[in-house]
This record gives sequence, structure tokens and C-alpha cells, in this order.
Amino acid sequence: MEMSQPPAAEADWWRQAVVYQIYPRSFADSGGDGLGDLGGIISRVPYLAWLGIDAVWLSPFYPSARVDGGYDVDDYRDVDPQLGTLADFDEMTARLHGRGIKVIVDIVPNHTSDRHAWFREALAAPKGSPARDRYIFRDGQGRDGAQPPSDWPSTFGGPAWTRVQDGQWYLHLFTERQPDLNWQNREVRDDFLTTLRFWSDRGADGFRVDVAHGLAKNLVEPLERLDGQAALVSPLDGTHPLWDRDEVHGIYAEWRRVFNEYDPPRVGVAEAWVHPSRRSRYASPDGLGQAFNFDLLEANWNAGEFLQVITDNLADAQQHGASTAWVLSNHDVVRHASRYGLPAGDCLSSTQNAKTWLLSNGTSPEPDRGLGLLRARAATLLMLALPGSAYLYQGEELGLHEVADLAPDVLQDPAFLRSGGAEKGRDGCRVPLPWTTGGPSFGFSTRAAHLPQPAWFGPLSVQAQEHDPASTLALYRQALSWRRRFHAAENLEWMPGTNGQVLHFGRPGGWQSVTNFGPRAVPLPHGTVVVASSPVQEGLLPADTTAWVIPPAPDRVARRQSRRYGPASDAVPLIRRDSIGPPPGP
Ligand code: GLC
Repeated sequence: MEMSQPPAAEADWWRQAVVYQIYPRSFADSGGDGLGDLGGIISRVPYLAWLGIDAVWLSPFYPSARVDGGYDVDDYRDVDPQLGTLADFDEMTARLHGRGIKVIVDIVPNHTSDRHAWFREALAAPKGSPARDRYIFRDGQGRDGAQPPSDWPSTFGGPAWTRVQDGQWYLHLFTERQPDLNWQNREVRDDFLTTLRFWSDRGADGFRVDVAHGLAKNLVEPLERLDGQAALVSPLDGTHPLWDRDEVHGIYAEWRRVFNEYDPPRVGVAEAWVHPSRRSRYASPDGLGQAFNFDLLEANWNAGEFLQVITDNLADAQQHGASTAWVLSNHDVVRHASRYGLPAGDCLSSTQNAKTWLLSNGTSPEPDRGLGLLRARAATLLMLALPGSAYLYQGEELGLHEVADLAPDVLQDPAFLRSGGAEKGRDGCRVPLPWTTGGPSFGFSTRAAHLPQPAWFGPLSVQAQEHDPASTLALYRQALSWRRRFHAAENLEWMPGTNGQVLHFGRPGGWQSVTNFGPRAVPLPHGTVVVASSPVQEGLLPADTTAWVIPPAPDRVARRQSRRYGPASDAVPLIRRDSIGPPPGP
């Protein structure tokens, strides 16, 4: 078996990188105010290096009123004083780079916050002024313009227009505190190019592009009506007035020119909720380079759905020269350990099904948490064996479940607040991480965390798992370590064992992954198991389990570093706690 090192400083480092998403406010707090910050991330750089990831993506850390968890940005070229300073960003980047970890920052171009200097200027400026033209202001309809300019809805509920004092209305596809920018305005475009250079000059290696499919809008009067059609489902021809219009790619072509000013070129990853057939345009080498593939995240736990998603997306990636960016969890969806513990909903995607369940505060149906975690571990191991890059969400390496029973009075998400409770929102996956088994916030801070953590977080903390070879944390670490060693060309070959309940594929160099989605154990392929998501024995792969197998080839390195049919192997030594982060808070 060929073992090769992952590309380090090469231009295409991102193609098969494992990227760990940090939600800064909930990762680690160094300031003692119960809110995560950059100092907290700095203190945990050893942990990130120990885990074995290639890059981090930081959700927004910019000045913000946090109306939408920081996706309401006051200033794109600064750090929220509650989270740190630009000097902290520089130190964090230097430390991550020092451990070989790249840094991806989140850029939010569709909307600013209502506290952004431009929006305050726009409110103070008259109708038709250049300051208003940076946003989307329009006169209302009806007598005295008292009706909104169009019937467009906000994603978080209610109309997408809010009226200002002089009677005009401004567009906001999210909350009214997130006014949409006018991307037909040259100044807006240029300012974002300045922002991209600002962070690139400071060492950012790439950008995650928020709502990448929303920037170009059809603003020709009269504004097109939606007549209640599902505003988020866009047609395949780029004609929806708000989403996934073809002109949006002109914006990213300009961004690409900025990315290519750097060596290695900066990279973008689009958050584009578009039909799979239109995703590759965002991932084009002339555009952002990568786009999240949410199909796996939407898929229910069954072999057929996973097979379809994998084959379709790999074919698409190959056709367009892109690499697929796989995701199972992020800060916007119910954690996959919880999703897979629910019975699949009729005709519902995994995330929709879980959203409905959340409305019962996680009680109906009663989730099977053990089964959910078993499947989540298997799904992650499968994902990590696929060609392309993989995005992990903080806490999934601990096997965290959704905190589904947060009380209404602690919820922060506008999805809850604006929908009048028709949605529970996304706070349950944003509860701060448990680092230690005890303490005021399980080592997250020296005081209570900004969202309450449940008692069951303690036994799932890093401290509780770091020395346990059967833990989910150990599994992630072993998988990441083996993945690095197995680094291979972006090819996948389905093996004859693939059927209605088993997915079995091989990667170049002899690395094989086999997942049993079915209810009964199946024979393992011939070879040596190097890592498995649950214990395997006597040549059998249990239900809801993935194993990575290498053939019995005379590869000495691989054989020396593996163990025959072991459970999660301990080929990667566990290390002392003091080498992975600061001591627990007082
Ligand atoms: C993206 C973010 C989400 C945010 C929304 C509005 O979808 O992932 O968290 O609420 O954009 O900025």
C-alpha cells in the first residue's frame, strides 16, 4: 500500500482537506464572560493539532449585535471586542499555521447588520441617495406606499421588507436587522474585494461564503411576485428573482482574481442551497473553487440514499474538475448523532425530520441516542473515506447530541424568535463545548456558558474521552490519522460487496471502506481492519458500522501500524491532557 503525505503548501491543499468548523462563541472562553473568544481558540490550538485536522473554518467573529449569531456583521474588517482583537486574530493564525492548520474565515456578503456604518448612513440619507443605493430601498405599494414593495418573505418568517421613517422600505431576506446589500452597486463590490485582501493579507487561507446563492437579485420594476411559491426552492434555469441567479457568478469571478493574487491562491467554499445540478458553478475553478455538498447531510440513514448521493456527486465533481465538500453537521442543523436516532420521516430529509422532532423539545418520538451515535460514527467514517474534503462541526468528535430541550427563555436564534415558536431554531447544536467533566461550564469558561449546557455534557467532555480508546474522540483521531496516511487520488471504485444494505468501496492504494446499514452483521471483506466505528470481531461487520480495511498486501508499514480486527485501533497513541490544552478552569 502506498502511503503519501498530504499536500502541505500546495495550491490545491483544500481539495481533500478535513476542515473543522469552529463556532467561536461556543468553542472556548478565555475572557471569563461565558462567551467563547479568539483567546479560547488560541488556548485550544494544541487540541486541534492533536485531533489531526487540516484547517479550521471560523464562523463570524466580527463586531456584531449577535442578532443572528454573528451573521449580522457591523464591520467586516475587525474583531468583536467581546471576542478579542485583530492582534488576537494574528496570534491565532500564526499558532494554527505553526501547527500546519489552515484558516478559513466566514464572509457574509448578502447582508450587513443594521449597525453597519453604511446602513446608518443610508437611514440618515434621503431617498435616491448614493448611501441608500448600497442597499435595496424601494417605495411601497398601495395608498401612501403603506404596503411592502413586493410579496417576498424573509427566510426567518414575516415579510422581507421593513419600512423606515421617510416611508421607504428596505429588503432583508433574513431578519430586519440584516439589510441586504445591493450587489449591482460597484462600491459594494469593491469594498468586499478590499475585505478579501484584508484577511488574505493577515494570513487567511480561504473564505466560507455565506448565502452565496443570494447576492444577485432581479430588481427590475415591477418587482416579480412570488405568489406564495416556496421562496427557497429555485428553478433550474436561474430565473428566480432572489436565489441562484446566473449573474451571481460574475461576482465570484472577480473574487477569484483576488484569490489568485496570492500564493497559494486563496480558496472559497460556497454555502449555496441550490439544486445539485447547479452547485458546480459555485465550485468552478473560475469561481469560488468549492461548494458545500449538503446532500449527505440531507440523506436519511440508508444505503440507497447514501449510494445515490455519493455516485451523483462524484460524477458531478469529476465532470467539472471540482472536489466534493462533504458535510454531516454544521451550526444550522440538528446534530447527526441525534438525527440518526430518529425513525426516518415519510418523504422527509434527515434535517427536516429532525426539525419537526425539535418542536417536541426532543421528546416525540423518543430518540434512540445509542443507535444515533452508532450510526453517526459509521457515517462519519464513511464520509472520511470519500474522495474530496470533509467539513466537521465542533463537538461532533465528542459524539454530542443536539440539546433539544433548551427552554424558550434561553433561545437566541431568530428562527425561533421570528417564527413565533413555529421553529425551535438552531441553538441546540450551538451549546458550548464541554472540555472537562465538571466545573461551572465543563471547562468552557470560568462561569456559566451563554447557552446552558446539560448535565450529560460532562461524560462526553474531552477530558472524559481523551484517554479512552473506545471513545468517539479516539475514533475521530484515529480516522484522521489514517486518512492522512492513505491520502490518494480522488478516485473511488465500488466493490462487488455493495448492495441494498452494504456500501463497499476502494480508494487508490488499497484503502477500502465498508459500511453496513442493515440490521444484521455481514462478512467483512478479506483484509485487515485498521479502524472501525464499533467493535468488529470474527470477520463480521455489525449493523450500523463502518470499517476501513486494507487488503492483505505485503505492505509492511501498513501492517505494522494496524491491528487485526481490532475495535477502534490504538495505532495512534493517546497523549497526556496537558499537551492538548490549558488546564481546566478553576
Ligand atoms: C447562513 C448561515 C446561517 C445564517 C444565515 C444568514 O445560512 O449559515 O447561520 O443565519 O446564513 O446569514
